[in-house]
Amino acid sequence: MIVVGGSSSRDMAKELAMILKCRYVQAATTRFPDGECYTRVDDDVMDDHVIIVQNTYPDENLVEMFLLQDATKRLGAKSITCVIPYFGYARQDRIFKPGEPESAKVMAQRLEILCDRVLTIDIHKEDVLRWFKCPAKDIKASKAIGQYFRDRGIDMVLAPDIGAAQRAKEISGFIGVPFDHLEKVRLSGTEVRITPAKLDCAGKHVLIVDDIIATGGTIIAACEQLTNQGVASISVACTHGVFSKSALERLAGSTIDSLLCCNTLENEVSNISVAPLVAEAIREGW
Ligand code: R5P
Repeated sequence: MIVVGGSSSRDMAKELAMILKCRYVQAATTRFPDGECYTRVDDDVMDDHVIIVQNTYPDENLVEMFLLQDATKRLGAKSITCVIPYFGYARQDRIFKPGEPESAKVMAQRLEILCDRVLTIDIHKEDVLRWFKCPAKDIKASKAIGQYFRDRGIDMVLAPDIGAAQRAKEISGFIGVPFDHLEKVRLSGTEVRITPAKLDCAGKHVLIVDDIIATGGTIIAACEQLTNQGVASISVACTHGVFSKSALERLAGSTIDSLLCCNTLENEVSNISVAPLVAEAIREGW
């Protein structure tokens, strides 16, 4: 097996190769003056099973993935497994208004042209994987997050909305504490209203968990509510730290005591690695 690290996911790819004890090749990716992607897999021959680790978000990373699939195929890859830590367009999984494309389906259909297996991590809607004709599996990051927070003084785990309740349940199971979910009403793309938790949070060290933090609106509204309820401290953890625009600054200015995310999107707070979970899935052959 050979692991090829695309430019979005070099650290995770390196770690994955180390755990699997296989060769690591880093794609040399640069940009042409006009912004187009140039990439090269600097290896003479790849007559082995190849694992490409690369996000398909934002769009330039998607293009790099297409190019890496072609490059590794040309070098003789026996099979190509695409590990897509953050699958772009998964939130556009259906048609909301006539005339729209079915974006997630479009991405899946294009990606599988040169791909034998797909692994995603906490894809926003697992349903999207049905568009792949090749085997496709989603890995849950709950284990990595739960193990990280075990023995770190967390008293309860909260989901900011019902959609994240299952995640809160799983993570709380690893930590061995109760869980609950808040009720969220989305007012606009950046604004949400959150109702108080049913559990008594006063004086408690709470961990809020979500799949994605984008604008930070959801987490900030949840923190305001919990601060009003008199919590002792607020830790926040998510799988994908998208952190659009000034989200990190806004979160830093809130009542959050600590903020962490997984390394599906590599950034300054992506300290929880999901590489061991990816390695486990690959070893099991799913
Ligand atoms: C919603 O369904 C997701 O689970 C997240 O809660 C949401 O995407 C977070 O977005 P934002 O940070 O912009 O509130």
